[in-house]
Amino acid sequence: MRYIKIFDTTLRDGEQSPGASMNVAEKLQVARQLVKLGVDYIEAGFPIASPGDFEAVKTIANEIKGAGIVGLARAKEEDIKKAYEAIKDADIKRIHTFHSTSDIHLKYQYRINREEALKRSYEMVQLSRSLVEDVEFSPMDATRTDINYLLEVIEAVIEAGASTVNIPDTVGYITPFEFGNLIKIIKERIQDKATISVHCHNDLGLAVANSLAAILNGAGQVECTINGIGERAGNCSMEEVVMSLKTRKDFFCADTKINTKEIMRTSRLITRITGMPVQPNKAIVGANAFAHESGIHQDGLLKEKLTYEIMRPEDIGLQKSEIILGKHSGRHAFKTKLQELGYSLSPEDIEKAFKRFKHLGDQKKYIFDEDIEALVSTEIVNIPEVYKLVDMSVASGMFSKPKAYVKLKINNEIVEKTDFGDGPVDAVYRAIASITMTKSNLLKFDVKSITGGTDALGEVTVTLEEDGVTSRGMGADTDIIVASAKAYINALNKLHLKKNKSIA
Ligand code: KIV
Ligand code: ZN
Repeated sequence: MRYIKIFDTTLRDGEQSPGASMNVAEKLQVARQLVKLGVDYIEAGFPIASPGDFEAVKTIANEIKGAGIVGLARAKEEDIKKAYEAIKDADIKRIHTFHSTSDIHLKYQYRINREEALKRSYEMVQLSRSLVEDVEFSPMDATRTDINYLLEVIEAVIEAGASTVNIPDTVGYITPFEFGNLIKIIKERIQDKATISVHCHNDLGLAVANSLAAILNGAGQVECTINGIGERAGNCSMEEVVMSLKTRKDFFCADTKINTKEIMRTSRLITRITGMPVQPNKAIVGANAFAHESGIHQDGLLKEKLTYEIMRPEDIGLQKSEIILGKHSGRHAFKTKLQELGYSLSPEDIEKAFKRFKHLGDQKKYIFDEDIEALVSTEIVNIPEVYKLVDMSVASGMFSKPKAYVKLKINNEIVEKTDFGDGPVDAVYRAIASITMTKSNLLKFDVKSITGGTDALGEVTVTLEEDGVTSRGMGADTDIIVASAKAYINALNKLHLKKNKSIA
C-alpha cells in the first residue's frame, strides 16, 4: 500500500476564495482541527501578503504540533525571508516557493524569458534551502508549460535542494488522462529524487479526478482544501480525494493517514468560519450525501445498507444515513419510521396512515417526525386521556422558592400534590411527575405566543423521553404556566400510549 501525503491549503488557497478570509483566531482554530484530522502539512498562509497573514502563520507555527507548517513565498528574496520568519519556530517547517513557467505567464505577466525564470527559481530554492531543510517548489501554470522546459526547471530545482516538486494546474485546464500522463513523464525523469505533489483547481470540475490520475501515476502528495474551497471554482476537495482512496483501496492501492471520522466536523467548522455553505448534493459532506428519498432505495437500504451505500456515514463522523420521508417514500420506510416513533399499528391503520402520509407528501417537501406523530395521533388513533388536569395554582416571587399545587384525574381517581421547583414551570412539572409516578426526561421545551398583547394565547411544546421512547405534547392557554402543564400532560398521555402499545 502506498502512502499519500495530504497537504492542506485551506488556510492559504482556500482563504483566497472570495469572502472566505479568516482572522488569526479563526485560522488557529482551523489548524487545530486539521491536526485532529491528521493532515501531513498545513499551508498556513502567505506571510508577505499582509501583517495579519504573517501573524497567523507565526502563531500557528508556534502553537501547532503534529503537522508540518508551510509558509508560501514567491521566488523573491523578501518573500522567502518573511516566510522563514513566520515558520521558523515550528517543529516541522517547510518553505513553499513558486515561479510561473508557462510562456503565457512569462510573456504577459512577468515579462521575462525562460532562462531568467529558471535562474530565479534555482536561486530562490537555494536561498530557501539555506534557511530550512524542507523546501517545496511549484512551477506555476505547469499544465500550460512546454513539457521540455518544465522538466528542465524541475531538475534544476531538485539540484538546488527542493525535496518536493508540486505540479499546479493553476487554471484548472488539464484533463485526467493528460495529467496522469504528465505525472508519469515527470516520475520517469526524476525517479525518487523528490516527491511529486499535485495542486489542482476545479475550473472544469476535474480537480479531484486529476489528482487521482496523478496518484495513479506516481504523485506522492496531494494539495487540497476542506469543502474544496479556493481561488475561483476552488481546489481539489480533501474529503473527496481521501474518501476515494479509502473506498476504492482495491483500485488505488494507496491510503492517507487522515482520520476520516473527523471529516464532517472539519467541514462544518470551515462552513461556520468562512460563511460559505456546502451545496446539499456535494459529495461526502453535502446534506444529502447520505440521505435517501426514493422508495426503491429506501427499501433496499433497510434490507441491506450495501445495496445503495458505498461508504458508511460513520466513517466520516456522521451518526447514520438518513431516510428522508417524502412523496417518493414507500411502505417499508414508513412502517420503519412508525416503529422508530414507538407506534405499533394494526395493518389496516398502517394502510390508512400511509394513504394520509402520501397525501401530505404531495403538499409538503419534507415530512418530519412531528408530522407523522400528528397524523397518527389526530387521525388514526385517539389518545386516551389517562392523565387529566383538573386544577392547578402556582405561587412564586423574588424571594421565595416557586411552589405549585396540581390536581389530576388518573383513571377516574383524583390525586393532588404540592411541590417546589427552580421556577414555576419546574415546580409544576415536579408535581406532575410525582403524581403520575413517571420518570421521563424533558428533551425540549418551546414557548410561543400565538396571539398578540398581554392576554396572548401561549402555546407550549414539550418533548419527553422515557426508556428510549419519545413523545411530543402541546398545550395552549392564556396562562403560560397552565399551557406548560397541559403540554406536559399531553406528552405523558402519548408516552403512556406508546409504551403500553395499546394501539396495536
Ligand atoms: O494554483 C497555483 O498555482 C498555486 C501555487 C501558488 C501553487 O496556488
Ligand atoms: Zn492554487
